[in-house]
Amino acid sequence: MIGNANVRLIAALGHGNVIGDGQTMGFSDREDMLYFTKNTIYNPVVMGRRTWESLPYRVLKARLNIVLSRSLTPGYVQSNLVVVPDLERLRMLVEVLYPDGIQSLAPLWVIGGGEIYREFLPYADELWLTRMDVVLPGNVTFPEWDTDDFECRQTVTDSTSEGSREPNRYQVWSRR
Ligand SMILES: NC(=O)c1ccc[n+]([C@@H]2O[C@H](COP(=O)([O-])OP(=O)(O)OC[C@H]3O[C@@H](n4cnc5c(N)ncnc54)[C@H](OP(=O)(O)O)[C@@H]3O)[C@@H](O)[C@H]2O)c1
Repeated sequence: MIGNANVRLIAALGHGNVIGDGQTMGFSDREDMLYFTKNTIYNPVVMGRRTWESLPYRVLKARLNIVLSRSLTPGYVQSNLVVVPDLERLRMLVEVLYPDGIQSLAPLWVIGGGEIYREFLPYADELWLTRMDVVLPGNVTFPEWDTDDFECRQTVTDSTSEGSREPNRYQVWSRR
């Protein structure tokens, strides 16, 4: 939890839990993109500056985009894009978005990249992980998570996938 917000990390992992090369994810997977969109749409998303710079349109539509950066000027860049300079300021924003005593149905999705996942893992209530049978280029990884802390409560295998590799597995890990 951060404040009153249910914090979910969402990521697509190749072999060795690689998630990208620092600039790109190194893959394009339509099914995973639909899964990501279906889950995050209309909810706030938090990302690091490098992930934000890697987005094709620099903003994910129909979501409040929160970008963590110490180098960018903080504040609203446009109506659904805000730059936040540190975790303390993020907490302040979360207090406004998720007021005490009001049960919010919208989770706070942490969408990467590696540095941000590492920082938010201790606050994560759930990990939504797409496990892909691919070797991705790069050495940015999703952090190790402790199975004493999280249990896998759901795995769905993508029945629509075709081709040579194994289908994606969509896992949801919940904090014990
Ligand atoms: N496979 C997936 O699911 C997935 C998802 C997302 C991203 N990715 C990939 O991950 C890679 C990017 O990850 P990354 O680890 O290099 O970078 P990142 O986590 O996206 O961003 C790191 C940046 O965030 C800012 N930051 C981090 N902690 C902060 C804090 N506490 N306060 C303020 N600002 C903070 C800093 O920006 P400043 O330098 O501006 O201060 C830092 O340089 C890319 O290859 C991307 O494609 C993969």
